[in-house]
Amino acid sequence: MLRFDDRVAIITGAGHGLGRSHALLLAERGAKVVVNDLGGALDGTGASAGPAAEVADLIVKNGGQAVASTDNVATPEGARAIVQTAVDAFGKVDIVVNNAGILRDRSFGKMTVEDFDQVLAVHVRGSYLVSQAAYPLMKAAGYGRVVNTSSPAGLFGNFGQANYSTAKMGLVGLTKTIGIEGARNGIRANAIAPIAWTRMTEALLPAEFEAKFTPERVSALVAYLVHESCETSGEVFTVGGGRVARVFVAEGPGFKTDDVTPEVIAGNWESVMAEQPYVLTAGDSMKAML
Ligand code: NAI
Repeated sequence: MLRFDDRVAIITGAGHGLGRSHALLLAERGAKVVVNDLGGALDGTGASAGPAAEVADLIVKNGGQAVASTDNVATPEGARAIVQTAVDAFGKVDIVVNNAGILRDRSFGKMTVEDFDQVLAVHVRGSYLVSQAAYPLMKAAGYGRVVNTSSPAGLFGNFGQANYSTAKMGLVGLTKTIGIEGARNGIRANAIAPIAWTRMTEALLPAEFEAKFTPERVSALVAYLVHESCETSGEVFTVGGGRVARVFVAEGPGFKTDDVTPEVIAGNWESVMAEQPYVLTAGDSMKAML
């Protein structure tokens, strides 16, 4: 059994849904958990201390260790306070699961700057800020595990979610770069793109999904990715309903010529669009151009 005894985990947005499930699972397996949640509505408005406290209390009632935090991940002060809560209560931070999120869906033509900025602030800035606040501690310890929460909507696009998909694809870049920079200090970073029945999706998913797409089926992957035995880093996984799959950003073999003109490109479009054989790194992409 993968255990987390003596590990300290911060889970953001853990008052509901997926984050709540991650927090309960890690705590049940021995982790000391900071249950962070601002406690607002799905669109990010409002705040309440209730959800974070309820989950932290439940963990303690079950015999685990947890403290609640109601700080906002999207502000530098909030992110610092979340990490400070972990240090004050448990002395360190081993694990950060950036899960807090909001939704402000609107078709692209109708999206407001505020809807765009607010969604990026919680998902992208929040994940950046909380990870960065914990990063010096992880570096000093030579150990850290970060999981960011992307989405199939970001990886593949989705109607009405220009803000959300921008944010969720942005998290892929953040994850890969934390993975690269953190490697020499034992820090691993990965992203998940989940599907689960939560307050965020209950109005969107068919009713029969509720029993199959439980948050617990996503938390199982999160627990593996943040375990010390998992050395994988910089990867993205779709996860839901009991299925886990690697998603990779790949570059096809392409079409190469010394005489590159719009017409030559148009005439060789099939080769440009080909998928196999592919390369997976910026270095191999550059080599293929030489
Ligand atoms: P949820 O709405 O139940 O949970 C999100 C939590 O984040 C809420 O408890 C909310 O209070 C908290 N939160 C929002 N803004 C915050 C802030 N500024 N600071 C601290 N906490 C904040 O939704 P769910 O489904 O559990 O979502 C969790 C994550 O998974 C989100 O990042 C979401 O975008 C992502 N996701 C969920 C999918 C699903 O199928 N449920 C699909 C793809 C991604």
